[in-house]
Amino acid sequence: MPDTSRPIYITTPIYYVNDRPHIGHAYTSIAADFLARANRVLGRPAYFLTGTDEHGAKIAEVAAAHGVTPQVWCDQHSSYFREVWKRLDIDFDRFIRTTDDIHVHGVSLMLERLHKAVGPDGQPVIYEGEYSGWYCLGCEKFITEKELVDGHCPLHPDPPRKITERNYFFRLSAFLPKVEELIASGTIQIKPDERRREVMGLFKQGLEDFSISREKVDWGIPLPFDPSQNAYVWVDALPNYITAIGYADDPSHFERWWTHGEVVHLMAKDILKFHAIYWPAMLLALGEALPEVLYIHGYFTVNGQKMSKSLRNVIDPNAIADQFGPDGTRHLLLTQFQFGQDGDVKAEEFIRQYNADLANDMGNLVSRAVTLIERHFEGHKPTIGPLEPVDEELQRDAAQATARFEDAVRRISPNEAISAGLELARAANRYMERTAPWVLAKSGQTERLGTVLGTTVEAIRIAAVILSADIPRKSREILRALGFADPDQELTSAGLHGWGRCPGPFHLAQGVFPRMEKPAAAPAPESASVATAPENVITIDQFFQAQLRVARVTAAETVPGANRLLKLQIEIGGEPRQIVAGIAEHYKPEELIGKSIVVVANLQPATIRGVTSNGMLLAASIGKTLRLVTPDGPIDSGAKVG
Ligand code: MSP
Repeated sequence: MPDTSRPIYITTPIYYVNDRPHIGHAYTSIAADFLARANRVLGRPAYFLTGTDEHGAKIAEVAAAHGVTPQVWCDQHSSYFREVWKRLDIDFDRFIRTTDDIHVHGVSLMLERLHKAVGPDGQPVIYEGEYSGWYCLGCEKFITEKELVDGHCPLHPDPPRKITERNYFFRLSAFLPKVEELIASGTIQIKPDERRREVMGLFKQGLEDFSISREKVDWGIPLPFDPSQNAYVWVDALPNYITAIGYADDPSHFERWWTHGEVVHLMAKDILKFHAIYWPAMLLALGEALPEVLYIHGYFTVNGQKMSKSLRNVIDPNAIADQFGPDGTRHLLLTQFQFGQDGDVKAEEFIRQYNADLANDMGNLVSRAVTLIERHFEGHKPTIGPLEPVDEELQRDAAQATARFEDAVRRISPNEAISAGLELARAANRYMERTAPWVLAKSGQTERLGTVLGTTVEAIRIAAVILSADIPRKSREILRALGFADPDQELTSAGLHGWGRCPGPFHLAQGVFPRMEKPAAAPAPESASVATAPENVITIDQFFQAQLRVARVTAAETVPGANRLLKLQIEIGGEPRQIVAGIAEHYKPEELIGKSIVVVANLQPATIRGVTSNGMLLAASIGKTLRLVTPDGPIDSGAKVG
């Protein structure tokens, strides 16, 4: 079991600023943010770095094409990343830009040290040579003859350029046996295992020394020992992981996180070779510590295709955040598929999944429990009395969820960590169904009611702590509803493991996750038109998302100032509820009392004209006539309709 006092240093790749951030970039950044937050909940110090990669020919050309200087272009495009990360609550400790002075200085220092270094074969690590090859600007790398497909790079439409120039080279060959051994022995862990095997295959194919400089690219960092050349973009980019934490200016900070911390680099498979082979070789040449884990997560495709501007299928994370908010966006992206596996983004599933996981499983649970405590205990903390087996079972479910969460975080599996929290919420929902606190309230069993509600809110509290790395804002909102004035203080190992900690008073002003009713918002310009399912077709599973129940109307009154609305008190199998319905022009309040009606019981509560509505009744309408849907014959309230 890893030492939880040992710091963990989590990085994302630094993103190119030739384009705007899309959900592929957002996925890595959200995952890194998730891991940093989750590790902190476990009590582990975590540092989280992200940033932008700004030098190189590709950036210089795109800036020139837009008639601005590269620096102006980079300032603007780097800020797009920073802004969307802020919007998604991606709480990085540092945002590094390769145009930052401290990075430029750190890279110069590193190059000087490499220039003086001697490899394990006794030869200088850096040597001068001539290089001739096909350069792909899209990849910012030379493409070997073997990789060319009909004279083209397999990944980019623009043809590679023939370049012959005098360069400096890094003697990779001298370090390959050591890097291979470090990966084979697991000193550098490459996860998942299929990616490790892929890297092991690269050693067998043979790898060449790589050039570390470019003669003709102006937009870059000059080599300190030959300013007529600029550093190759990857030699400039990879050291961001050390320059950002004090390599050149803060040795103690650098040692804390790099030398003594567990370094975890997250990325997708596109940049594996640079991180698994070039980077460790450079660090060995410098005599610095090595990263411990390279986690290669899956690659998003949209309708089976790579996201690209030319296919007009790029999904802007802002468009998802407009509809689902920051927490919804984080949750939907993180749970798209098993971390480490590729997959197609199912945007047409977003609304269904948001409603199922967040509005129903979590949101409804919180509002049901807190509303009952407000109603029957005036919001004060209910006393947990003697426990029955059903209560102990929920307590065990909570302990298991905690253990699953801890294990998943250690294995770097965000989606499993999240499902531990959601399953606990589902267990708490089942517990409420089984213990029926509304029946206990009706029959005056106040002591037992206190135990049931007190137990429920503890399970909610733990689910909120577990989910705080996934839905940081909403988890805090939930903890506030349970009475925590400073929710951050509960996001700790004590919060995760304790029981009976909710302080109260309990109060929920409005539903935590409003249900989504409309189809996906129209995509923003430049973003994909993501296919949504035909609006009038739903699956049987989707139908059963709605829990339809028979209810009995116990009281009805008009809503002052709202001609069309009636406020109804109903009971569903003994559970009292209040709903607001737009039927005042069709029914008088007194006509309704005692009637059996059909309601959607698991609808997110809403406030209509200042009145809380906790459900929706069904009515049939034709023209101006509206009639209630009622069961055909006497049937107990609470009966399921389906
Ligand atoms: N600048 C280099 C990285 C240098 S790191 C020292 C670069 N930048 S990039 O903008 O192209 O970002 C690549 C990374 O963005 C991927 O490794 C991955 O983390 C993320 N993703 C970009 N597209 C993605 C998908 N379609 N799916 C998942 N992640 C994706 O390479």
